[in-house]
Amino acid sequence: MSGVIQRYRKYLDLPDLEPVSLGEGSTPLIPWSQWHNTRVWLKLEGMNPTGSFKDRGMTVAVSIARHEGAKAVICASTGNTAASAAAYAGRAGLSALVVVPQGQVTREKMLQASAYGATLLAVEGNFDAALALVRRTADENPAIALVNSVNPWRLRGQETGAYEVVDSLGHAPAALVIPVGNAGNISAYFQGFRRYGRGIPQMMGIQAEGASPLVKGEFFEHPQTVASAIRIGKPASAHLAREAVAESRGRFFAVSDALILAAQKELARGGVYVEPASATAYAGLKQLFEMGAIPAGDVVAVLTGSGLKDGTTPLQWVDAEPVVTTADTILSTINQLLSK
Ligand code: F0G
Repeated sequence: MSGVIQRYRKYLDLPDLEPVSLGEGSTPLIPWSQWHNTRVWLKLEGMNPTGSFKDRGMTVAVSIARHEGAKAVICASTGNTAASAAAYAGRAGLSALVVVPQGQVTREKMLQASAYGATLLAVEGNFDAALALVRRTADENPAIALVNSVNPWRLRGQETGAYEVVDSLGHAPAALVIPVGNAGNISAYFQGFRRYGRGIPQMMGIQAEGASPLVKGEFFEHPQTVASAIRIGKPASAHLAREAVAESRGRFFAVSDALILAAQKELARGGVYVEPASATAYAGLKQLFEMGAIPAGDVVAVLTGSGLKDGTTPLQWVDAEPVVTTADTILSTINQLLSK
């Protein structure tokens, strides 16, 4: 088993520490389709150990936290950071405290974080309120390490996603399309492409319309979207994300919830099951392509989390109840399918 620290240690500038790893990274980059002269690739980050890209950053942040003598880690989360922090803390022998916006995180993510042994707290308010609270708590307690993406080690770890894309293609893509919530991941990829020194793609940051502060240029007090992972109104790394987009001549773009759900369905019907936040990137890619804003060449959409993370939202477009059957009806069902 080899995780991203073992694989890319010389790019990460880490002190001499024992990595806390679950074998994260090395996720598939699959060819998806060819649109005129654009080759679309999907980076399947849901195949990380806890089902999202957060593991790349968490292996580094938790390794550092343990190395520096922390007893616990803390984070605010829309769910995936919580699950990842809980898993890596458990692996490291540290406690994990995760703070979620009440009623706004999927059951699957809360269950996952709890199963790994985290203490789960909820605040009345949104993600931005939860983040403000944990930042204060960590500031006042040196034994508690903050593992949100405002921790620079998280971003260093997430840079490895960019390294892998370059290693897989043999060069940097022409564009990279990525969902944006708290704006850490787009910043990490940009930093990663820059550090790897093999070219920088146009960075295309996609938000959900109801939570699109980087598109609108103003913070959202009440972010709303079906993509709960990116229901964020005040991205902590907004400044870094703006720099990434400006310097790469990319753009921010917003898509509606209806387009997000349609993209989730389209991906699933091609065998790729992702959560709504990840489908946001693909929805944005399709829209931008239709507008003529996607370059020719290799274009990568980063699909950040597994579809298994949210077992409720897809019920808006799929009926998951099996039809009770007998030997007779199964034959007629098959015949119906084959005659389609
Ligand atoms: N996709 C998924 C599946 C996410 O969980 C997140 C963020 C993003 C995209 C956006 O990444 O915040 O770096 O811009 N989830 C965080 C969490 C906020 O708490 O799990 P970002």
